[in-house]
Amino acid sequence: FNVPTPHNEPVKNYAPGSPERKELQAKIQELRAQQIDVPMYIGSEEVRTGNKKPMSPPHDHQHILGYFHEGDASHVEQAINAALGAKYAWENLEWEQRAAIFLKAADLIAGPYRAKLNAATMLGQSKNAYQAEIDSACEIIDFLRFNVKYMAEIYEQQPPVSGNGVWNRVEQRPLEGFVFALTPFNFTAIAGNLPTSAAMMGNTVVWKPAYTQIYSANVLMEIFKEAGVPDGVINLVYVDGPTAGNIIFNHPDFAGIHFTGSTGVFQHIWKTIGENIYKYKSYPRIVGETGGKDFVIAHKSANPKAVAVGLSRGAFEFQGQKCSAASRAYIPSNLWGDVKKYLLEDLSSMKMGGTEDFTNFINAVIDEKAFDKIAKYIDNAKKAEGVEIISGGNYDKSKGYFIEPTVILTKDPMYTTMCEEIFGPVLTIYVYHENHFEEALELVDQTSPYALTGAVFSTDRYAIELATKKLRNAAGNFYINDKPTGAVVGQQPFGGARASGTNDKAGSMINLLRWVSPRTIKETF
Ligand code: NAD
Ligand code: ALA
Repeated sequence: FNVPTPHNEPVKNYAPGSPERKELQAKIQELRAQQIDVPMYIGSEEVRTGNKKPMSPPHDHQHILGYFHEGDASHVEQAINAALGAKYAWENLEWEQRAAIFLKAADLIAGPYRAKLNAATMLGQSKNAYQAEIDSACEIIDFLRFNVKYMAEIYEQQPPVSGNGVWNRVEQRPLEGFVFALTPFNFTAIAGNLPTSAAMMGNTVVWKPAYTQIYSANVLMEIFKEAGVPDGVINLVYVDGPTAGNIIFNHPDFAGIHFTGSTGVFQHIWKTIGENIYKYKSYPRIVGETGGKDFVIAHKSANPKAVAVGLSRGAFEFQGQKCSAASRAYIPSNLWGDVKKYLLEDLSSMKMGGTEDFTNFINAVIDEKAFDKIAKYIDNAKKAEGVEIISGGNYDKSKGYFIEPTVILTKDPMYTTMCEEIFGPVLTIYVYHENHFEEALELVDQTSPYALTGAVFSTDRYAIELATKKLRNAAGNFYINDKPTGAVVGQQPFGGARASGTNDKAGSMINLLRWVSPRTIKETF
């Protein structure tokens, strides 16, 4: 294909004294010293409503990074009109021209904007430097570059068979109408990927981010504009979810939703779309990546140190605010002593604090609502019978929303924290009899409605084979002897089924195909 061959963007490590660390620290200081004014972007307009809402670092909630202008239903309508107005010119641009814009966006992030986007993610979403680098540098760059390769494969695929006076072709049209990108707080890369992957295929988009991600969304929009995304192709609005939904899901030109967020919100949206189905010109595309209750199961043959590292990294990186985070573990009785020792050792070395100090591994959870929800699970665990907190359990929201990495040990494999998505730094462990691996696999499969990620640790091929078969439907991303997090674009296409989503694999051809509606043309001579 006539597009550059993508390679995964190398991760910078921000070692002490390195130039990249100095540049990032300077950018953090610069952003902290400002109070920015963030407009909505609708068509060619920067819209300032005057209804200003503050943005603060979750780890330092009294500090104001700036204000965004909140909109209302009328701004959603304006954004839809801008998207529909920009559609004809955009969909008729050669796909290579659209590809060039997104490749340029990737290069801008890899180069001049890297420090700014990382600093915005560190301050706005409380990620440490390394975690921000993986998210707001490498992953979004990879999404853009690999999606361009997949788009080339779609547009340049073999035409259907023709002959005997007949010429058949297939035209990959974008959807008729506009696409709604509804994005979560926890990944800058996801916020960037959802509008751009639909736009790449010739669609125009109304994008509504989570309020707690607007600080970095604003930088993404600056990059998209500089890369040459034309006015009206991606329209960024800050309107509360139900208000936006009420306008979007009642609109006849609503053509599809690209969603990442919680299962409850997605199910509500799906139901609303179903109720309104007679209003739309076409059946809308519904693509959603949703919640998880991701598991680690160890077999009695596993290496206990590898299991412990898989748990500590898998559960507590990003404060556990990762859809893929390990949050329930099944450990065989013969390994428990060693796994516990290594796990507690590893946790004791994890420093907690603000992202400005690069030695902090654990940062704050996103906001007070998340903090209170997670703290309640911990409080309940402190009081529950047959349940013990073996590490962490403390929290403090006086300066930032800090929650210690918390490990709960339960005798009940169906205890609440084994089943429900907490979305925070809480891991629950159940110790099973070492000879009951198959029964433990059944538990893994049946304990929660989700099926996003999961991992098995074992050195026994029969056990690996058994787990792979028995857990076939329990995870869309299944890891053998590794933590259940850290999927890399182009290497492990990401997404889950059951209550975890439509499994259209973010950053893949499967996903891009959801944003086209092919037309078959037969011509006879
Ligand atoms: P959320 O569901 O609260 O919000 C997602 C988006 O939907 C936000 O923009 C929000 O404002 C909007 N929204 C909320 N209620 C709405 C409504 N009634 N109508 C219309 N829009 C509405 O999710 P979040 O807290 O931002 O993100 C965390 C969740 O996302 C977790 O459940 C996590 O597992 C999930 N997630 C999944 C993946 C994945 O790939 N499967 C990746 C990241 C996050
Ligand atoms: N893609 C992210 C991971 O795999 C969510 O951890």
